[in-house]
Amino acid sequence: MKKTVTKKREKPVTHEIIYYGHETLKKVADEVMNIDGPVVELIDSMFNVMYRSKGIGLAAPQVNESLRIITVDASDDTKSVIVELVNPVIKEFSDEDGPYDEGCLSLPGLTGEVFRPLRLMVAGYNRDGSEVEFEADGLLARVIQHEVDHLNGILFIDRLEDYMRNEMRPELKKIKKLNKRS
Ligand code: NI
Repeated sequence: MKKTVTKKREKPVTHEIIYYGHETLKKVADEVMNIDGPVVELIDSMFNVMYRSKGIGLAAPQVNESLRIITVDASDDTKSVIVELVNPVIKEFSDEDGPYDEGCLSLPGLTGEVFRPLRLMVAGYNRDGSEVEFEADGLLARVIQHEVDHLNGILFIDRLEDYMRNEMRPELKKIKKLNKRS
């Protein structure tokens, strides 16, 4: 009898974006207790999802993982600004704030002007488990705040005036339904 070798195919880790209305986006995400293999895989997967979706930032809850991890690519033509942070904590904010038209992969098609501090100091861990701390301004500071909000169950539309959010209602209703497709 011929021995047949069936190659066991490893199930690839696939993550999909979840949308406004999904329970996971409303939760306060859990601290990562141990930066192990699965966490590193999740970070890689988040970068894949983020780039595939042409996003500049992603928080783990947006791929239905209620963990305190964010990925950011705020690069421009002149410099590469790629950041991954596990358990990020914003330690200081500048007094000065400003507006920016924000969007979100969990709220496709919607944008709204949000005021936030322009500079900050953030600390966290990278995939090696090393502690990192740095100052950020410009787009990076903006995206970090948007993503850390996700870890606390907050979406950018929660920071808009009520009337602005009300105007988005028909659109929000449609976005909610995107969660039920699969
Ligand atoms: Ni977002």
